[in-house]
Amino acid sequence: MQADKGESGGIRGAVAMSRFFLRERVRPGERVVDATCGNGHDTLLLARLVGPTGKVWAFDLQERALAATRELLAGAGCLAQAILVAAGHERLAELVQEPIRAVVFNLGYLPGGEKGVVTRPAETLTALDQAADLLLPGGLITVCVYTGHPGGPEEGEAVAKWAAALPPAVFNVWISRQPNRPPTAPYLVLVEKVR
Ligand SMILES: C[S@@+](CC[C@H](N)C(=O)[O-])C[C@H]1O[C@@H](n2cnc3c(N)ncnc32)[C@H](O)[C@@H]1O
Repeated sequence: MQADKGESGGIRGAVAMSRFFLRERVRPGERVVDATCGNGHDTLLLARLVGPTGKVWAFDLQERALAATRELLAGAGCLAQAILVAAGHERLAELVQEPIRAVVFNLGYLPGGEKGVVTRPAETLTALDQAADLLLPGGLITVCVYTGHPGGPEEGEAVAKWAAALPPAVFNVWISRQPNRPPTAPYLVLVEKVR
C-alpha cells in the first residue's frame, strides 16, 4: 500500500478504507471528484492516482479549504490535473459533465476550521444522486460518515437510507463499521456501480 500520512496502522479507519478502494480502482488518465476537499488529502491521493493525463474536480464551500488544497497539490507537483471548485457539491452535475470513475465524500466539518460549515443531508443527498448518475460502470462512491458532531448521526442515517434504496442490479452497496471501536467511530459507505 502506498504510504499516506496517518495510515501507518493499516486500514485503520473509514478514511483509510476509502483510500484502499480508490487505489484499487482509479487509474491514470481517469476523471474523479473530491466532493469535500477540506485540507486536500483525498484530493492529493486522487491527483496522484489519475496522474497528469487525468482530472480531479475538488469541491468545497470554504476558501480556506481550497487554499489548503491548492498549496498541498502544488507542493506535490499535482496541481495541473486539479480543478478547484468554490461551490457546493450539490452543483456537481452542473459543473462536471464527464463520466466519472470515483466520487469521494468526507462528511462533517473541516478539521481545524469553521465548525459551522458542515455537510448537511439535503445537499449531501442531492450530490450523491448526481454522483450515482455520473459514475462509470465499475466506478465508486466512497462516503466517510462522522457521527460525533450535532447533525452527524442524522446525516449518516440519511446516507444509509439513500444507499439502501439503490437498485441492486446496478449498484453494490456496503456499510463498513468497526465493532471494536467506540460507536462514534467514523464509518464508510461504499457504492460500486456495476453497469
Ligand atoms: C471532513 S472535511 C473534508 C476533509 C478532506 N477530505 C481532507 O482530506 O482534508 C468536510 C469539508 O466539507 C466541506 N463542505 C461542507 N458542505 C459542503 C458542500 N455542500 N459542498 C462542498 N463541500 C462542503 C467543508 O467546508 C469541509 O471542508
